[in-house]
Amino acid sequence: MQIGTTLNQFLLEEQRHLGGVHHDLPALVNDVVVACKSLSHALSQGALAGMLGSADSENVQGETQKKLDVISNDIMIATAERGGYLAAMASEEMDEIYPIPVQYPKGKYLLLFDPLDGSSNIDVNISVGTIFSILRCPAGVMIPTAEDFMQPGTQQVCAGYALYGPSTLLVLTTGHGVNCFTLDKSLGEFVLTQTNLRVPEDTREFAINASNSRFWEKPVKRYIDECLAGKDGPRKENFNMRWVASMVAEVHRILNRGGIFMYPRDSKDPTKAGRLRLMYEANPMSFIIEQAGGVCSTGREPIMSIQPIELHQRVAVILGSKNEVERVVAYHAEG
Ligand code: F6P
Ligand code: MN
Repeated sequence: MQIGTTLNQFLLEEQRHLGGVHHDLPALVNDVVVACKSLSHALSQGALAGMLGSADSENVQGETQKKLDVISNDIMIATAERGGYLAAMASEEMDEIYPIPVQYPKGKYLLLFDPLDGSSNIDVNISVGTIFSILRCPAGVMIPTAEDFMQPGTQQVCAGYALYGPSTLLVLTTGHGVNCFTLDKSLGEFVLTQTNLRVPEDTREFAINASNSRFWEKPVKRYIDECLAGKDGPRKENFNMRWVASMVAEVHRILNRGGIFMYPRDSKDPTKAGRLRLMYEANPMSFIIEQAGGVCSTGREPIMSIQPIELHQRVAVILGSKNEVERVVAYHAEG
């Protein structure tokens, strides 16, 4: 498709071209994207609109909510609930699922989202994002429950993220490659700026929160030690390191120039399988990265093959350039 095509046109043409069953998908994605545009505007106002700081509340995972976590969640709900394309939503910021209220028509999709990923970065004006995943509502379900969301990542119909950085970007897959759109603020439209993104198979750049190193498992420690040893070590090459602490920003960097991102399982809190959430962080990012030729694993199994058992389940995440992720997976197999 031509660079400069608007997101709406792109989605309509893609669905027409595929002749598929997802006639409502362009309109649903458009609703999600309207929320992202609105949030992009709110974020750009920052302190001018009193948007920064804490909301004096906690989410279900016990994390302090920022004002913008709450605002962004409200914006997404208000924008996506009335279109008639959804049966229910679920979000990082809500304990329970959100069924579409009775006054609105009900649709055949389920929307999961992290309204403001990397929100610890908000108050210091570093990039943040919105991550979303779209599933089908199981056939015949009139009133969805959390159980209806328990579908592995392989069942996703669409996944995407908005990255609020120097420019606002939207990266999207419907299972036919990955494309990137840039928000043209004068038009109020996302416009196609990169087609068919591919993650380079090799990389010499890793991203991990090294302050957790004393809690890492052996295979992760081995991999990072080898990277750090550089030219003098077994890899015989120097590696670079980056850590933004916004998953959206790390994934976007990896999509564009390769890299490996890890938030692995560790012994810091043995009750948690990892830091990141499976349903609205790891799965949508895995769908995007794998559609771009990258690999996503927990170290032990492909992320998208995991059968979820709860909405806010956490998972170990190792994703990015194929050859490096496969190396870490091999180290896990060796024990
Ligand atoms: O949503 C979780 C998240 O904010 C990710 O965006 C990011 O990758 C990670 O947590 C940062 O973790 P830490 O605070 O340990 O650096
Ligand atoms: Mn997040």
